[in-house]
Amino acid sequence: MQRFQIIGAGLSGLSAAITLAKRGFSCNLFSLQPSERAQSVLAEGGINGALNTMGENDSPALHFADTVRGGVQLADPNAVEGLTAHAPEILRQLEALGVPFHMKNGELILRNFGGQKKKRTAYAKSSTGKIIMSALIDEARKYEHAGRITRFPHHEFLRLLTEGDACTGVRIRDCYTGSMTDYYGAVLLCSGGMNGVFPGMTTGTTQNSGDVTAAVFAQGVPLGNPEMLQYHPTTIGIAGKRCLVTEAARGEGGRLFIERNGERWYFMEEKYPELGNLMPRDVVAREMFFVRQQPEAGGQVYLDMTALPEDTWAHKLSDLRAELMNYLGTDPKHTPVPVHEGIHYFMGGIAVDAQHRAGRNGLYAAGECACQYHGANRLGGNSMLGALYGGQVAAQTAAAAGADLPEPAAVNETEPYAQPASPVLIHAVSGILLDALGIVRDAETLQAARERLRTLSHAREYNAREQARLRLAEAMLLGALERRESRGAHYRSDFPQTDEAYRKTTVVRCLQDSVSVTFEPIPQRKGETDRAI
Ligand code: FUM
Repeated sequence: MQRFQIIGAGLSGLSAAITLAKRGFSCNLFSLQPSERAQSVLAEGGINGALNTMGENDSPALHFADTVRGGVQLADPNAVEGLTAHAPEILRQLEALGVPFHMKNGELILRNFGGQKKKRTAYAKSSTGKIIMSALIDEARKYEHAGRITRFPHHEFLRLLTEGDACTGVRIRDCYTGSMTDYYGAVLLCSGGMNGVFPGMTTGTTQNSGDVTAAVFAQGVPLGNPEMLQYHPTTIGIAGKRCLVTEAARGEGGRLFIERNGERWYFMEEKYPELGNLMPRDVVAREMFFVRQQPEAGGQVYLDMTALPEDTWAHKLSDLRAELMNYLGTDPKHTPVPVHEGIHYFMGGIAVDAQHRAGRNGLYAAGECACQYHGANRLGGNSMLGALYGGQVAAQTAAAAGADLPEPAAVNETEPYAQPASPVLIHAVSGILLDALGIVRDAETLQAARERLRTLSHAREYNAREQARLRLAEAMLLGALERRESRGAHYRSDFPQTDEAYRKTTVVRCLQDSVSVTFEPIPQRKGETDRAI
């Protein structure tokens, strides 16, 4: 019986597993933590789909246009077309699973979100990820019962099994017993973003360590756009990490300001009259960065939610209010919240095509670990959509290509990837990257960071996982250095303009002793090719 091996049990992993199970296939779902503790449960503000329930003449075509524009033309338009065309159906599927989205008169209410000209973000207060995950976990149980999904929480991916160019399975370690097993079959990587590369600086869980991406990169799987890190404009620093203040706060009317000459300056509204505080995240984060440096300004940006109506606090943002009161000890209903940009999302990752194939037979990737849909900047609300849709597409592609493979086999040899990376190294690499991959970058800083990374790489012997992390860090720095332009989340003070010559995917490959970068063309939109002929 053919089995599929899914790494990661968050939204994209569950979506892939359910898609396979519905088609009668069996899959194993491996994850460090159970689904209930996946990063996806932290997603707050909502999920996009042009349902047009708000009387605004919204359509998938407008959602497509906003997504491609928001990503500054770097996303594969054919993939985005699939994403945005299927988004309404995905929202209806979630509704059918019982997700309690905000409704009125039997219809979904959609909210404003960043970078979008229409209300198209469905939500459940500001705990949308948690609520969607509950529904999917429940749906997955149905198939667990039927033996088609087998969950393996507390199991760790070590590396891919390969034969020539093909991926034939995965080596997995049981975290409780330490025993290792080789599982054969097509592999779907759904392992999330690389938060663990930046401990303490991201809104995501560091359980998403980036080790899966690093390991497969070291094994020869190319990465796309690894330089594209998204800084979310509104986070607060709490308990050693960045805590998200959902974009929904601005979607519901929250306003950013800074004190200037003793007065509140609502800089986003002045500079961007059309979308104001809801400009795409790269723009808002950059404006905050620059506005803080102005000599006459007070140095701290605030989010002002004091004018939001009672109904909004009661029904749409009650959990955000509770969270802020708990962490800051002040009530956002009455007191503006000091906010700062924080790393939130990785647009780059494992390079995949529109069918989610990851460069070799038998290997697929979806969700935040994959580089797809978001180009140089992701729109809020497209993350859960991309994870759900990407999981479905990856599963469909894998199911169409699958072949029968051997039964699992216990491993009795020494496995180099079984050794963890040392926290000292993780923090050293993170420090180097943070100095160079901020909101504003330049060649000098990036080169200096590469030098420091090189020195660190030669400082001692490293185990396989540590070496993979060092390579991943080099991929991020080199991608940022070689992209000599500014686009989306990648802003170069020495190349401040967007350059059409770089409207290409940064593809980074791991070689024997180095990493290499090429820029590869973005696929043409199919419709455009047809029209051209
Ligand atoms: O701000 C937020 O609620 C984040 C949403 C997202 O990244 O999609």
